[in-house]
Amino acid sequence: MDVIILAIESSCDDTSAAVIRNGEVLSNCIANQEAHRLYGGVVPEVASRAHQANIIPVVDLAIKKAGVAKASINAVAFTRGPGLLGSLLVGTSFAKAFALSRGLPLIEVNHMQAHVLAHFAEDPKPRFPFLCLTVSGGHTQIVLVRDFLDMEVIGETLDDAAGEAFDKSGKLLGLGYPAGPLIDKHAAAGQARFPFPEPAVPELNFSFSGLKTSILYFLKKEVGNNPDFVQENLDDICASIQGTIITILLKKLRKAARQTGIREIAIAGGVSANSGLRRALESMGEKEGWTTYVPAFQYCTDNAGMIGVTAYYKYLKGAFCGQDAAPFAR
Ligand code: KG4
Ligand code: ZN
Repeated sequence: MDVIILAIESSCDDTSAAVIRNGEVLSNCIANQEAHRLYGGVVPEVASRAHQANIIPVVDLAIKKAGVAKASINAVAFTRGPGLLGSLLVGTSFAKAFALSRGLPLIEVNHMQAHVLAHFAEDPKPRFPFLCLTVSGGHTQIVLVRDFLDMEVIGETLDDAAGEAFDKSGKLLGLGYPAGPLIDKHAAAGQARFPFPEPAVPELNFSFSGLKTSILYFLKKEVGNNPDFVQENLDDICASIQGTIITILLKKLRKAARQTGIREIAIAGGVSANSGLRRALESMGEKEGWTTYVPAFQYCTDNAGMIGVTAYYKYLKGAFCGQDAAPFAR
């Protein structure tokens, strides 16, 4: 019998629904929320209200695009966390109501685990055990993945996430939100000629809050000498910021690979869409003898497809949850 799962993701500012048949993504629909651009960051109350407006049309679209009958859906999956509480509540409540009304089992999914398992939405798929550098707006982790549902975080950020470092640096440069893709674009045309210090952080952990401070002081000094400094050097500043973030990330990833002896290496999460990071991973992989895996762009940033893929492996193990499952923020 086919296993058909309706998956819902609403942890931050994207409302997404997907339909997955036997682990294969049939549809993966996302409603982005443009409203946050006005504020230079995600406003939680605005996000949860937009999720409420978007959720039914997005689910409808996902089911239509998948070409399956509603009656053939066997289970409903949702992101339980981590994420913004008000945002999570919308997806969680919708999934529960849908499941209750149709007598279906519920599957709760951890958002970070789903970013890793996004690699199983398409070929080529990593072989176990592999390391995954998960870099998003809220998290930065090195994950040792032994099996689909057997993962261990072996390194993480002690303060800001890598995506946050992109977004906060972009804000200092007067770029819009989210700044990650914009810095990526400018960096492609620039030279990394402004050196920013790399933090000394023990073990496999990261820190990005110092970078933001050094960019702030650097800009204050340079703009003090030349008010047009940012406009005249935007591409080079972006290339320098991006280069520093990539260097910090990849040095720790290489340390983790050497320590564990693992050569199957993946990246995931919103920042894994970064073209500089993808290129640098490939060239480090060639030097270190790794097989590297980068997700297709639609599976980098938040999407319900990755929630459904994770839910499929939980379904096979009978890992269901009850109607009392509460969303969690962290
Ligand atoms: O995984 P994601 O969609 O949401 C979270 O779970 O946080 O990641 C969003 C983050 C944002 O910080 C955004 O700026 C960053 O991913 N991002 C990028 C790029 N595309 C998205 N950062 C650098 N380069 C990109 N091309
Ligand atoms: Zn995410």
